[in-house]
Amino acid sequence: MEHVQLPSLESTPARTPRQDFSKSRAIQRRAHQLIPGGAHTYAKGDDQYPVNAPGFIARGYGCHVWDVDGNEFIEYGMGLRAVTLGHAYKRIVEAAYRQMQLGANFTRPASIEIEAAEVLLEMIDGSEMVKFAKNGSDVTTAAMRLARAYTGRDLIAICGDQPFFSTDNWFIGTTEMRAGIPKSISELTLKFPYNDLDALNRLFDMYPSRIAAVILEAEACDPPKPGFLEGIKSLCERKGAVLVFDEMITGFRWHLGGAQNYYSVVPHLSTFGKAMGNGFAVSALVGEREIMRLGGLEHDRERVFLLSTTHGAETHALAAAIETMRIYREQNVVGFLWQQGERLRQLVNQSIAANHLEGFFEVIGRPCNLVFVTRDQNHNQSQAFRTLFMQEMIRRGVLAPSFVVSFSHTDAELERTAEAVFEAHKVYRKALDNGVDKYLEGRSVRRVFRRYN
Ligand SMILES: Cc1ncc(COP(=O)(O)O)c(C=O)c1O
Repeated sequence: MEHVQLPSLESTPARTPRQDFSKSRAIQRRAHQLIPGGAHTYAKGDDQYPVNAPGFIARGYGCHVWDVDGNEFIEYGMGLRAVTLGHAYKRIVEAAYRQMQLGANFTRPASIEIEAAEVLLEMIDGSEMVKFAKNGSDVTTAAMRLARAYTGRDLIAICGDQPFFSTDNWFIGTTEMRAGIPKSISELTLKFPYNDLDALNRLFDMYPSRIAAVILEAEACDPPKPGFLEGIKSLCERKGAVLVFDEMITGFRWHLGGAQNYYSVVPHLSTFGKAMGNGFAVSALVGEREIMRLGGLEHDRERVFLLSTTHGAETHALAAAIETMRIYREQNVVGFLWQQGERLRQLVNQSIAANHLEGFFEVIGRPCNLVFVTRDQNHNQSQAFRTLFMQEMIRRGVLAPSFVVSFSHTDAELERTAEAVFEAHKVYRKALDNGVDKYLEGRSVRRVFRRYN
């Protein structure tokens, strides 16, 4: 692939001028010939974005990205919520590079594994042991295996309203996109709705002494009802199941110690990833020694194969994680995410009011993790209107599948975003009045989890 000439940061224009996507479009065709789906994460795929979206990113700095054609965008979400400080964040790059020069992977453990374990466990109250890995899916899957081994049970209960826990069969088998997964595996995963303790209780009654683990995000979009999280924990303890919080998104966003600290409900096991390494591949399963130790050498029960991967403790990813966690602590990053998210929410709400979009466009979620909901003229959730909004934002230099901010989203970026939102909302308003198809450049975005293309 040809290298592109990138503009210097100093010459970045305040407004996006004419957008040219010719290189992106050329590579896009090639990408689908070489890579199923044209990308390595479905959430980044072409079907998730409007047709005018940049196809490939060449470079990122702070919360700005430049595509292969040199178009610049303010980005939200940033690496599927992994890049919390900012792209190419100097201290993280330097920490990783320093470590890289000492070697990436050895025949025996590296001492940085202990340092990383100490830094992480100090932040997560009640967690006594940790195993690192490279992605979130592996650690949630490990939690399920460990819970099954610990309890000697076979079933798993997952929160059915929450979108994602793992790329592995125990979760994907419960989605619409379950081709290739035997029914016998899917049947071992049960679902309960968020905020419905009675429903979970009924599952325990329907399958006595069979549920090994209950896994959920402590919070996704709706806040927990008073007593819900505490209730789940005591139910799990009464019924002998392991409670697992998936903190892939909530970790280092809700609170430095995760949503478990924010809500003062400590699960038996929890899983972290994404924000832990500012985009470097690092994830962690943490939890009570009593359970975690089954993956170790110091017990006489049956051995559990718990997260043993070639790259699990890649040294520079751990160095990046240590430095990221240090910065979180030193600079109140979490406080900044909440503050900027709240500010952005207010700016978007002003635009909603000014464009008479109440009930059609809504910003939901915690300030540190804002998403938007798009509705059509009948107030039904609409992918066509989501597409239109993203299309109009892209035209104005903002790549926003969500409004998830980072430490690099300063007031200047929020204001530029608010201007784009205001203009995009004007088009949204017209589309409500005259029909969305008139304003869409191409097909709508689609849900990832669907049975057929
Ligand atoms: C809540 C949650 N759990 C688990 C995962 C899986 O993480 P990974 O993509 O790193 O395997 C994700 C990824 O989006 C997630 O959002």
